[in-house]
Amino acid sequence: MKVLEAKGIKKSFDGVQALKGADFILKRASICGLVGANGSGKTTFAKIVSGLLFPDGGELNINGINIDLRSRVNSSALNLAMVHQNLSLIPEMTILENITLGVEKVGNNGFIDKYSDRDKAEKLISNLNLKLHLDQTCEDLSPSEKQMIEFVKAIFRDPKILILDEATASLEYNEVEKLFETINDLKSKGVSIIFISHRLWEITKICDELVVFRNGETVGKIDFKTQERKESLLIPLITGKEDKLEEIQKEKKINNIKSEKFSLEVENIVRGKKVRNISFKVKRGEILGIGGLNGQGQEELLLVLAGFLKRSSGKIKIDGKYVKIKHPKDTIRYSMFLVPGDRQTEGLFMKHSIFNNIIFPKVTQRLHKFLLNISSLKNETEEIIKKISIIPPGRDIIVSNLSGGNQQKVVVGKWLNLSPKILLLADPAKGVDIETRTNLYKIIYELTKRGTSVILYASDNEELIYNCDRVLIMFEGQVVDELIGNSISDKNLLASSMRIN
Ligand SMILES: Nc1ncnc2c1ncn2[C@@H]1O[C@H](COP(=O)(O)OP(=O)(O)OP(=O)(O)O)[C@@H](O)[C@H]1O
Ligand SMILES: [Mg+2]
Repeated sequence: MKVLEAKGIKKSFDGVQALKGADFILKRASICGLVGANGSGKTTFAKIVSGLLFPDGGELNINGINIDLRSRVNSSALNLAMVHQNLSLIPEMTILENITLGVEKVGNNGFIDKYSDRDKAEKLISNLNLKLHLDQTCEDLSPSEKQMIEFVKAIFRDPKILILDEATASLEYNEVEKLFETINDLKSKGVSIIFISHRLWEITKICDELVVFRNGETVGKIDFKTQERKESLLIPLITGKEDKLEEIQKEKKINNIKSEKFSLEVENIVRGKKVRNISFKVKRGEILGIGGLNGQGQEELLLVLAGFLKRSSGKIKIDGKYVKIKHPKDTIRYSMFLVPGDRQTEGLFMKHSIFNNIIFPKVTQRLHKFLLNISSLKNETEEIIKKISIIPPGRDIIVSNLSGGNQQKVVVGKWLNLSPKILLLADPAKGVDIETRTNLYKIIYELTKRGTSVILYASDNEELIYNCDRVLIMFEGQVVDELIGNSISDKNLLASSMRIN
């Protein structure tokens, strides 16, 4: 039975047609995937369904009711909840306050019944294996913890329709598994779910059906009851091209390490419990992965190397010489750059143009040396926009108007024109579509051919498998294992991460 049917949904933003005619059917107690390249209209569609945006045209029927699209759809009355792609937690508030925001239970005495809310939230959190305290504030949570709390916040509302807009983008395998258990449980209780993700293994694993958007239109549907659950079958539908993207993506990176020289040597770095006595060396042209379960200190390690977090002891050598890194500015001198993991808070000036964001590192790097030539900066920006296919491609577009994946491309694009010596990448392809992800890693290979060393933290094991020469596995702030070349496999990564050797 249908719980939701959308027909010919249209929406444009100042001349950009985000949706040209989107059709979608969601059945009761079923999980329908929604896939498509970055900017294909998925988030716009999800926001229209939940009543956060008004469409320009089309029809929407939810639970047998024709929704008047010109008046605001009240999503709580429709029993619909959405996990947003851009995180919406209020950092200063506690986890419990964020989860219950706007739906706090009021007891017989007219006061908020904190106890029953707390019990319910506690249960949801422990079902997901989260080791978080409900009274801690959200500001220090990692990107994956924030995503988990967003998910809890949505299901706390007992929705009948749940929309997950890239709710898994920064989760690693075990976290996704836990989330899927909860989702399947909700499904068995009659909840209908729209699941948006760029990770095709997730789609083939959890969805009953699938809808594909391309350029704002529905271009394909798959019913997994009759069709094979195979990732490679989805790729041509998403990209609209017949090329064997899967093979390009899965082709192991050809080893580029030609030099025996180390560009970075890290000796006994310590910072609290998250970085405990870490030492490693990276050769010129090498891509060193940092794996392990989420939250084992990987992101802190990158932040310490980049000078954003202070280390309490340990030394760093660049090109064989000891260097002082006490502040992020110090790393610019050594041409070592961090692509941060949290694009909204660390990576972008959201209210500025693509151009301003992309030239920013270059401007800060060169400010005191000589004047910059604006027209050459404009050309460089345009080249980057083309290279990593930022859509729409206008350099004056304000970053907050881009789709999530296109924002992520700007985060990475900023560092590409600087010919970095060392690139520290924190989940760079998070939320980036499959075709662009492949291109992004091709660009990174190009850099390594010219001698750039890369340290890559990725929540999706696939990225480590297909791109790294070597992977260090972290556990509770320490490096506990090292995988090299062909031994970097799904099985070995999982076993090492969970310490089942
Ligand atoms: N507020 C806005 N103002 C202008 N353009 C917008 C706005 N919101 C979205 N767009 C444009 O609409 C198109 C569709 O964006 P949308 O966010 O729906 O894509 P998406 O499929 O969710 O992509 P992603 O996979 O990157 O999240 C994009 O071209 C985007 O730039
Ligand atoms: Mg989106």
